Amino acid sequence: MEDRATGMAVTGSGSASPRASLDNHGLSQVVETSDEWIATRTGIRSRHLANPQESLSQLGAIAARNALSMAQVDATDIDLILLATSTPDDLFGSACQIQAEIGAKHAVAFDLTAACSGFVFGMVTAAQFIRTGTYRNVLLIGADVLSRWLDWTDRRSCVLFGDGAGAVVLQANECDRLLGFALHSDGTLNSCLNLSYQNQPQPLTGEITVSQGTYQPVSMNGKEVYRFAVNRVPEVIEKALFQANLQTEDIDWLLLHQANQRILDAVAKRLQIPAQKVISNMAKYGNTSAASIPIALDEKIRQGHIKPGDTIAASGFGAGLSWGAAIFQWHR
Ligand code: UT7
Repeated sequence: MEDRATGMAVTGSGSASPRASLDNHGLSQVVETSDEWIATRTGIRSRHLANPQESLSQLGAIAARNALSMAQVDATDIDLILLATSTPDDLFGSACQIQAEIGAKHAVAFDLTAACSGFVFGMVTAAQFIRTGTYRNVLLIGADVLSRWLDWTDRRSCVLFGDGAGAVVLQANECDRLLGFALHSDGTLNSCLNLSYQNQPQPLTGEITVSQGTYQPVSMNGKEVYRFAVNRVPEVIEKALFQANLQTEDIDWLLLHQANQRILDAVAKRLQIPAQKVISNMAKYGNTSAASIPIALDEKIRQGHIKPGDTIAASGFGAGLSWGAAIFQWHR
């Protein structure tokens, strides 16, 4: 807590995927679909799926260790762990399990739920702690195992998603590398995409009845979510760029939530960002929700494509509905 004049820098990244992957041909044995339909409508060709022994916390912990190792930060030096997820192993939160798993014994750890916007919302949340000088080293993990919550008979949704985890280390830095951000929510559109709790009344005693229900599988109005994304995402990126005092030409990489290649293409076109600057890996992973941005970021960093000082415009969007953008520079 000693040094109060601080900015934030992204200093390490990591990711983890379940061992098993299922391609579109394999999936067409499960539901009535085809590689041709999925690939042309979404750009997805395969996805990793967690088996019952692979937990969200394990995937998150592997991604976290990889990020710590790149940043050369010891787990015991982490002050805060933020786990962006909608699919915790424990409804009370899974961040503490990851804290224990990686031995980050000095870190406070908690979950943050903002669906596919979770990673961007988490980065901005971490920045508030760092900028105020409260914490110096934050581990932000985006992880989801949506396969647990899909209706595997619903071809309109189950073909889209995959499981995985990504993480970044965010550290106090003299120069603030989070250049601008904007976050939004619109709960009036909640019904477009949700994984909601369904009541099952259970009379207890007298007039007291409690609910002992369960969560229902992901329900989505694909067309509405598509429309929402192609309209709101360019807008929120422009807002964050304005705050950063930057133009779209200043962006080296457009890093969108990996939901649909057509959404990426439409957003890039609207912002006039050339295709070679658009990061896309959904062909291999599908939509991994809160994990999609950090997995794609980690891949590009490890492939050596993202260079120190590069400016990245990241945008997450999804259930809530929620959407946000963060403009940041890769620091190492
Ligand atoms: O993290 C955010 C999560 N959500 C999203 O990003 C979703 C955004 N939306 C989308 O990506 C697209 O709307 C989808 C990929 C979900 C759907 O694409 P679309 O072009 O909007 O297709 P559609 O829903 O209009 O369906 C077209 C046809 C329908 O058949 P009919 O009624 O025209 O005869 C569907 O029944 O395609 C059919 N269809 C399929 N066919 C084969 C829907 N799903 C499938 C499938 N395989 N998996």
